Amino acid sequence: MRCSLPKGLFDIIPHSLATEEEWHLSERWQYVEAILRSCARNYGFREIRTPIFEQTELFNRSVGESSDIVSKEMYTFLDKGNRSMTLRPEGTAPVVRAYIEHNLAHIPVIHKYFYIAPMFRYERPQLGRYRQHHQFGIETFGIPYPEQDVEVMLLLSECYKKIGLNNWSLVINSVGDEESRNAYKEALSHYFLPHLEQLSPESRLRFSRNILRILDSKDLNDQELISAAPSILDFLSQEASDHFLSVQKLLKKEKIPFIINPRLVRGLDYYNKTVFEIISTTSQKDKSLGGGGRFDSLVEQLGGAPTPSFGCATGLERIIQLLGEEKIAIPASLTPLLLFIPMGEEAFSLCFHLTCRLREKGFYVEIDLSKRKISHSLHLAEVEKARYLVVVGDREIDSGIIEIKEMATRTSDKISFDQLESYLRQKL
Ligand code: HAM
Repeated sequence: MRCSLPKGLFDIIPHSLATEEEWHLSERWQYVEAILRSCARNYGFREIRTPIFEQTELFNRSVGESSDIVSKEMYTFLDKGNRSMTLRPEGTAPVVRAYIEHNLAHIPVIHKYFYIAPMFRYERPQLGRYRQHHQFGIETFGIPYPEQDVEVMLLLSECYKKIGLNNWSLVINSVGDEESRNAYKEALSHYFLPHLEQLSPESRLRFSRNILRILDSKDLNDQELISAAPSILDFLSQEASDHFLSVQKLLKKEKIPFIINPRLVRGLDYYNKTVFEIISTTSQKDKSLGGGGRFDSLVEQLGGAPTPSFGCATGLERIIQLLGEEKIAIPASLTPLLLFIPMGEEAFSLCFHLTCRLREKGFYVEIDLSKRKISHSLHLAEVEKARYLVVVGDREIDSGIIEIKEMATRTSDKISFDQLESYLRQKL
């Protein structure tokens, strides 16, 4: 029996015969990951890596029991010691756990962390939505000021720009503090109660479990009702309102366009004050490229000291799919500087030896080891995009002179075998 990939998963592979699998190419992933790492570095974020699974309790207590993630999407299992474990569905809670567990707050540095890591959610698979997806996430701790919110948004927008994506909008909102939210929930409850029968079954459930989540409903009937619902912005406390206004002022000052959507609540329970999402304006599919917000209570909720915090994450799959849709050219990541084509047994062992020596010196040199016809080797040189080509046969071995050909210009130089290393060094 041939085993195949479970539903909702995908491989990242260096080559593919199918054009719809272009976004699976590892070269594209490396391109995006390199930019994300370099932008994170430029903004002073340091890498944090946490395990792929955690105690289930961690996500129940942070993401929230009534969220879609906890209530229906987690990959939870009992380990052999009968403890409940969960493949991480998101990265914020594990980073907070690690921050508390390693007493990182006591180290007198700027607490800015990033990760690039797989996440697991048992969702209905579709384009842009997978059961294993990858996030670039950034989390900051200790700063309550709106500048922190804007620094994170700026880093994320810088990442998209550097990758070459220009068709997206920044959507922001404030979900206030607990006081604002309680007042707003009550107003929502008054508003939806007379319309309960008209709501979708999912939203009716949310009415009793977590009424804010009704605002997230994709049901068209619900959306009509939602559009006339009270706005959270009318219920913000003075402090939350001032904070939100400062965020807007800072974004304007930094020339980052934004849209305010008072219905934006996000699907995770730990947010307060500023929340935001980056929405693709190209993609017809799932449009949310990334999102995040302030989570000032989470560290305390998970057993640490009260710590203002702000962070966000963006999905790599969606970014890489957009590279294709927006026809963004990416540089080939692995091309040989030189390809040897040996003709005959003696040339084969000489070229193999030379390849090994040059690689030892740090040059990526390739050799066609297939012992097939020269036409095959020439074709390989084209597809592998080798910069130089050297054919070695009896004549070259007898004379000690080779012809090194530059593929792009079709020009060549004659040099001795001994000069090869210095020739390549000069050309780098
Ligand atoms: P999230 O909005 O649930 O936030 O996920 C962040 C991003 O991950 C989404 O915008 C989307 O691009 C991508 N994503 C989520 N689920 C899937 C999926 N099933 N398939 C493909 N891509 C997906 C969080 O996870 C928060 N931890 C973000 C955060 C960090 N907030 C504060 N700090």
